[in-house]
Amino acid sequence: MRSPIGFVLLLATMFTSPAVMVRAGMAEAGENALTWDDTEKTVVFDEAVRVAEIVFTASNQGPEPVTVLAVRPSCDCTAVRTPALPWTLNSDESGQIVVSLDLTGKMGEFEKTIAIETTAGEQSLLVRIMRAAPLTPTERRAFNQRRAWIDRQAIFRGGCARCHSPSESTLSGAELYERVCAICHEAAHRAAQVPVLGASADRDAAYWRNWIIEGRSQTMMPAFARDRGGVLSVDQIDRLVEFLLARFPAGSRL
Ligand code: HEC
Ligand code: HEC
Repeated sequence: MRSPIGFVLLLATMFTSPAVMVRAGMAEAGENALTWDDTEKTVVFDEAVRVAEIVFTASNQGPEPVTVLAVRPSCDCTAVRTPALPWTLNSDESGQIVVSLDLTGKMGEFEKTIAIETTAGEQSLLVRIMRAAPLTPTERRAFNQRRAWIDRQAIFRGGCARCHSPSESTLSGAELYERVCAICHEAAHRAAQVPVLGASADRDAAYWRNWIIEGRSQTMMPAFARDRGGVLSVDQIDRLVEFLLARFPAGSRL
C-alpha cells in the first residue's frame, strides 16, 4: 500500500457496498431511507496528509421527504460537516456530507462509523482509512536513488535541493565541495555506484571541470553547470576546481 511518491495524495475508493448497513441497536432504516453513493468507503492516504476528508453523497430516491436529524461519528477524532440540521431532502434531492478525520499519530488501517439518524430510520456509514507508514531511511534512500537514475538532475529540485544544492552563492571551494560533492562521494555509507574521488591518474583542472560541468548521463552523477540544468555558476565551478586540485593533488594516489 506504500506509495513511493512521498508527498502525493493517493486516493482510492476501493469498493462499494450497495447494501445499507444496519448496526445492532439502531432503528432499522425504512423503505424510504436515503440512498448513499457508498455506505462504506476505503481511502488510502499518504503519510503527508494530516486531515483526511471523505465525501458521502446522499439522495432521496423515494416519494416522501426524508430529514436527517442527527449525525454521530464513532469517535471525537472524527468531525462531520453537513448542511444545517435538521436537513430535509425532498424527493429527488441530493446533498453531501464531509467526514473529516485528524490523522495525526495514526498509521496503518482503521475504521470509523458515522450513524445517521433520519426520519426514515437510522443508517450508518463506514470509512476505512489506510495510511502509509513513513518511509524508513533505507526506503527513502532507495527511492532517492531511483529518482536520480530516472533523472540525475532531480537532486537540484524540490525537497532534494535542500540537501543537494549550495545553500548560498558565497560558499568557498571547500564548503561547496562538502555541500554538493562530498555528500555523495564521501558519505559514511557511500553507495556502491558512487566512486571514491581522486582515483583517476590524470586529474587535472580539465578533468574536474568536465566532470562538474557535464557529470555523466545514464548515471546518478548530475551535470552541475547552470547551462546544463545544474546549480553552479562559472565562478563557483572555478572555486571548486581550485579546491579539488589541492584536495586531490595530481600524481598522488589516495
Ligand atoms: C535530508 C537531506 C537529503 C535530502 C532531502 C536528499 N538527500 Fe540525497 N543524499 C543525502 C545524503 C546524506 C547522502 C549520502 C548517502 C547517505 O548518507 O544516505 C545522499 C546521497 C544521495 C545519492 C547518492 C546515492 C546514495 O544513496 O548514496 C543520490 C543519487 C541522492 N542522494 C539523490 C537524492 C534525491 C533524488 C533526492 C530527492 C528526491 C535526495 N537525494 C534528497 C541527503 C539528502
Ligand atoms: C548524487 C550523488 C553525486 C553527487 C552529488 C556528485 N557525484 Fe560525482 N559521481 C556520482 C556517481 C554515481 C558517479 C559514477 C558515474 C559513473 O558511473 O561513471 C560519479 C562520478 C564522478 C567522477 C568520476 C570518478 C571516477 O573515478 O570515475 C568524478 C570526478 C566526480 N563524480 C566528481 C564529482 C564532483 C566534483 C562533485 C561535486 C561538484 C560530484 N561528483 C557530485 C555521484 C555524485
